[in-house]
Amino acid sequence: MEREKDMQGSRGYFIAFEGIDGSGKSTQARILAERMRQAGFPCYQTMEPTDGPVGLLLRQILTGRMQADPGVIAALFAADRLDHLTNQVNGIVKKIEEGVTVITDRYYFSSYAYHSVDLPMDWVIQANAQSSGMLRPSVTVFLDITPELAMERIAANRAHQELFEKKPFLEQVRGKYKEAFEKQKAQERVLVVDGSREPQEVADDIWVKVKGCLARGRA
Ligand code: ADP
Ligand code: TYD
Repeated sequence: MEREKDMQGSRGYFIAFEGIDGSGKSTQARILAERMRQAGFPCYQTMEPTDGPVGLLLRQILTGRMQADPGVIAALFAADRLDHLTNQVNGIVKKIEEGVTVITDRYYFSSYAYHSVDLPMDWVIQANAQSSGMLRPSVTVFLDITPELAMERIAANRAHQELFEKKPFLEQVRGKYKEAFEKQKAQERVLVVDGSREPQEVADDIWVKVKGCLARGRA
């Protein structure tokens, strides 16, 4: 994964973290960003939903202050994602073109997994076709933990639960993630990592696997 022109070109890498709530995405995204910077890769960390106008609307829905049907929620996430990619100020595409590596906490696999509990997965994939057509992650890291462990972590750390943070729902989402990875395996590179270990152990595993994956070239 040396920073060589013929391997990476002048573009930055795009690394997406996925997993059910509490799986450790934000913890691991932060550690990976630090390691990438130490290895000489300028790095930009971001997340979905964004803090743009559609993202703020989504936060109102996730915290129960506003109600919306599943199809509306899925469409709003797709719209937020497009802004996330193309925003003129800090959009992901712009960062990558500037040679910055972008690490995101959630991308379209979150939509495939969470929204296909209520909607056909193919419809959700289609609703995100503009985003996937524009930019696929160099690699997607899926932090796998059981819903039991997720609920323990959420209960210990959250003042209030959001819309999706219920154990049977998380169980379904975890299954849907795996279904989505299988469906998309011809066009996506996904690393499944056991997220139930100590944070540093998980981080070391991710570092070795991501380096190996990026060294094998772009998807
Ligand atoms: P996510 O972004 O996937 O919701 P976070 O990184 O915010 O997950 O982690 C959820 C909670 O669990 C946080 O309070 C975090 O400190 C804790 N946590 C994260 N990773 C681990 C781990 N490997 N072991 C134990 N607790 C963890
Ligand atoms: P957030 O609090 O950022 O997640 P986390 O608990 O992992 O820190 O809220 C994101 C919520 O939005 C999460 O419950 C999953 C859901 N979500 C979707 O339903 N679809 C999507 O496309 C994305 C990106 C998130």
